[in-house]
Amino acid sequence: MTEAIQSPYERLGGDAGVVRLVELFYDRMDTLPEAATIRALHASDLAPMVDKLSVFLIGWMGGPENYTKRFGRVIIPAAHEPFPIGPSERDQWLLCMRRALEDLKIEDDLAEMLMDGFGRMAEMCRTDGTDGASSRR
Ligand code: HEM
Repeated sequence: MTEAIQSPYERLGGDAGVVRLVELFYDRMDTLPEAATIRALHASDLAPMVDKLSVFLIGWMGGPENYTKRFGRVIIPAAHEPFPIGPSERDQWLLCMRRALEDLKIEDDLAEMLMDGFGRMAEMCRTDGTDGASSRR
């Protein structure tokens, strides 16, 4: 039997699944001592970021594209330029995401595919001058 190829968005369970992932992600950021440095870069109220990152990831994972409509155009590396982000901050972000994916108990191949994409995006968010984005400055 052939199965239709599903997007990561569909495999996570659509909007509700992505929002759940992002809630778990910011919950980890809020509570893991290892993530304290990046928690301190964010506003005290994380609720607006739950909304923003959910809408962003819904589009990025193959669901409806509503980010620009709701929040304006975003270029992810440029959005992070105001913040000091080196390898340690990148790894803190990725640790929170890995823990959130573990909590969701999704299939390993989906978790690895998502972590691969997050790893690449997070690397582009570095502002310590050793990645491709910063070297253009
Ligand atoms: C590499 C480590 C990262 C750090 C330390 C970081 C940190 C931040 C901070 C401090 C903000 C502003 C939050 C606020 O306004 O309170 C932000 C915004 C944002 N981040 Fe990240 N981030 C990282 C990686 C990522 C990645 C990998 C993605 C996407 C997969 C992402 C997506 C976003 C989005 C969509 C926004 C909102 C942008 C805007 O308001 O224009 N971030 N991030």
